[in-house]
This record gives sequence, structure tokens and C-alpha cells, in this order.
Amino acid sequence: MRERLRDIESRADCERLVRAFYGRALDDPIIGFIFVDVARLDLEAHVPRITSFWETVLLGARSYGGGAFRPHAELHAKVELREGHFAQWLHLWSRTVDELFAGERAELAKAHALRVARAFHGRLRTLPSPPGPPPGATGLTVTQHGRRG
Ligand code: HEM
Ligand code: HEM
Repeated sequence: MRERLRDIESRADCERLVRAFYGRALDDPIIGFIFVDVARLDLEAHVPRITSFWETVLLGARSYGGGAFRPHAELHAKVELREGHFAQWLHLWSRTVDELFAGERAELAKAHALRVARAFHGRLRTLPSPPGPPPGATGLTVTQHGRRG
């Protein structure tokens, strides 16, 4: 029988959620390369910051100082962060939340991520981005069939 899940209650819970999310995201076929190859994410440096973000949003701590958009704008200058990337990010996040926690804060974690994703994506669309992923970034060969436009 499945154990009853409890809600997110502490910074340690936020960190557990964040680590579980990155455990998936870094290996993900759609968005993994952005963290690994493009951003070359230093996970041990990043986890405390993103844990503080969620502790601030979910538990009312003041441990996160803001400025979450900027690193995404810098990333977007290297590889276009598209709607499909955000959709996959949100999918992995919601799945991870639902696997580990249940309750009001768990719901808020999903809802707030959706708001931030929409806001980020809307802002990024106003910024220039490179024409496509840098060579070799995805490990996939993109072929074009026919011409559009
Ligand atoms: C408990 C209440 C809330 C807390 C503590 C909170 C906290 C935060 C924090 C810390 C950020 C990151 C800001 C930055 O990095 O500069 C953020 C971003 C954001 N929040 Fe909330 N939030 C709350 C409620 C809400 C609600 C109710 C909405 C909308 C209905 C909302 C919409 C957004 C959006 C759209 C962003 C992204 C803004 C951007 O484009 O950078 N938040 N929030
Ligand atoms: C396509 C989707 C996304 C990608 C590829 C992505 C990627 C990244 C990367 C690589 C960093 C680290 C940047 C660095 O330290 O140099 C980062 C930071 C961060 N991301 Fe995202 N992200 C995405 C969506 C989101 C969403 C939807 C949220 C909202 C919950 C979010 C919240 C944050 C926060 C709070 C940080 C920390 C910023 C700081 O250091 O203060 N990201 N992201």
C-alpha cells in the first residue's frame, strides 16, 4: 500500500524536492543538455540557491534574494529556451512534487512554478536568441524536410 504523503514543511523538504527534480532534469532527453552542456551547472553550488527560492515561496523564509530571471536570459542567449522546454521542466517538476509530497504547499509549488515559467517565457520571447542550438549540444541531428516561409 502506498504511504500517505505529507506536505512540504521544512528547508530539508525543499532541498529533497530540488535534488529529486535535478536527478531527473539532468538526464532528461529534452532539457538535460541545457543544464549539462550549455549551462554546465555546478549542482552543489546551485542546490542551496534554488532551495532558498522554494523555501521563500513555500515557507515564507527570506532566504532568497531575487533575480531569478537573469540566469535564464543569459542561458537564452546561448540556446533558445522554448515553450517545449518549459513544458518539460514543468512536467518533471510536477511529477517530482506529486511523488514526494501532498498538500497545500505541494500544490503551491506546482502553481508557482507554472506562473514563473509563463512569466519567464513571456519575457524571453522579447529578447534575441541564437538561431538554433549550438552544434553538438543536443547530440541529435536536426534535419529539415522542405522549406517553410
Ligand atoms: C506566498 C506568496 C508568494 C511568494 C513568497 C512568492 C515569491 C516569489 C519569488 C521569490 C519570486 C522570484 C522573484 C525574483 O527572482 O526576482 C517570484 C516570482 C514570481 N511570482 Fe511569486 N510569490 C508568491 C505568490 C505569487 C502569486 C500569488 C503570483 C501570481 C498570482 C506570483 C507570480 C509570480 C511570477 C509571475 C513570478 C516571476 C516574475 C518574473 O518574471 O521574474 N507569485 N515569486
Ligand atoms: C526551460 C526551463 C528552464 C531551464 C532550462 C532552467 C535552467 C536553469 C539553470 C541552468 C540555472 C542555473 C543558472 C546558473 O546558476 O548559472 C537556473 C537557475 C534558476 N532557475 Fe531555472 N530553468 C528553467 C525554468 C525555471 C522555472 C520554471 C523556474 C521557476 C520555478 C526556475 C527557477 C530557477 C531559479 C530560482 C534559479 C536560481 C537563480 C539564482 O541563482 O538566483 N527555472 N535555471
